[in-house]
Amino acid sequence: MLNLSKNHKNLVLTSFWGYLILSSFVSIIPAIQMQNIKPLPGQKDLTTEERDGLKTFVAEDCMACHTQQVRNIEMDKMWGNRPSIPSDYYYSKKRIDVWRQSPSFLGSERTGPDLTNIGARQPSDDWHLIHLYNPRLVVKESVMPSYKWLFMEKDSTQITADDVVLNVPPEQLKNKNSKVVATQKAINLVAFLKYLKQPELPGEAPVEFIPAKAKPTTADSGGGGSDLPDGEKLYMNTCAVCHQADGKGLPGAFPSLSDSPVVNDENFRLHAAIILMGYDSRPEYAVMQPFADQLSDAEIAAIINHERTNWGNQSKTVTAEEVKAVRDSLIK
Ligand code: HEC
Ligand code: HEC
Repeated sequence: MLNLSKNHKNLVLTSFWGYLILSSFVSIIPAIQMQNIKPLPGQKDLTTEERDGLKTFVAEDCMACHTQQVRNIEMDKMWGNRPSIPSDYYYSKKRIDVWRQSPSFLGSERTGPDLTNIGARQPSDDWHLIHLYNPRLVVKESVMPSYKWLFMEKDSTQITADDVVLNVPPEQLKNKNSKVVATQKAINLVAFLKYLKQPELPGEAPVEFIPAKAKPTTADSGGGGSDLPDGEKLYMNTCAVCHQADGKGLPGAFPSLSDSPVVNDENFRLHAAIILMGYDSRPEYAVMQPFADQLSDAEIAAIINHERTNWGNQSKTVTAEEVKAVRDSLIK
């Protein structure tokens, strides 16, 4: 008989085995399973710069407000194409340094948007830098703190060709003759943010949202009585982060669309081409990325019509077929 009250050897042995069995279930076995996580095909390791950016991400505690976990629920569909799986965190497997383990990026607080797929959602360096310098320059109602210490003000005469200069409105500067230059820390942090893209699963996708992600239909409320999707909503979701809700843009970075000759041109071809192929024609403005893969012809037509009939613009609207003709002529 196992007499625990009198036999001390049995008492110690029982608690020892009990402890060992329990801890193998709650920590040893999961830890061994974690060692076997493989990267997904096509998933790249972090470059030196991106890893440095990761360290700044940790040092600035961006996880306090940003998660990196797409859960298998309806409200998370906007943050990724599928729910997150362990391999998604492969990049964080390496220790930060001898003293610190690989950090957990999952986060628990979503004051700001989930960043699992931010590299795909926002590929613009300029946007990220301006946003880090002062989030309210691009998102008026933002409560994200400014990270001005990742930037420095330099006298205009001392700017060199290697400097990454930010076009911020002059009233933001302490000294009228200075320019805002991004430090290597800020540049690397943006490199890390752009690295964050949800890798595609190989072959038949075994992990998918339940129920399967519904494609937006053209049956969404009509843009001006036509059968096009809601152009205002699409504009707000895709274009307003740069060109702003009122179409006025941000001087020196994102051009205004409210009085733009391109937007109001009788011929909308250039306008559609810019949305499909992206645009980088003027050095005084940042770069606009292409949207050909992201937006359908009907969606582009709806956005163009929203721009051509708002903010004082009064130009002729276009149809999805006309946009398709431009797409076919540009993209083989
Ligand atoms: C106090 C909470 C808070 C902290 C801390 C914070 N953010 Fe944010 N972040 C927000 C909020 C709120 C938004 C949404 C409004 C906006 O875009 O500014 C946001 C938006 C963003 C976006 C744009 C996301 C999108 O989907 O458009 C990026 C990128 C971002 N933050 C990066 C960072 C980085 C990098 C850090 C750390 C240096 C950080 N944030 C720290 C609250 C925070
Ligand atoms: C990442 C920021 C960004 C986003 C998002 C963005 N744009 Fe742009 N857009 C720019 C920049 C920067 C330029 C100017 C590029 C240049 O001239 O070098 C521009 C130029 C334009 C122009 C030409 C304006 C003119 O007068 O020259 C149009 C039209 C336009 N964008 C429409 C759109 C539409 C529609 C969307 C949404 C589908 C969109 N943009 C999304 C940054 C952006």
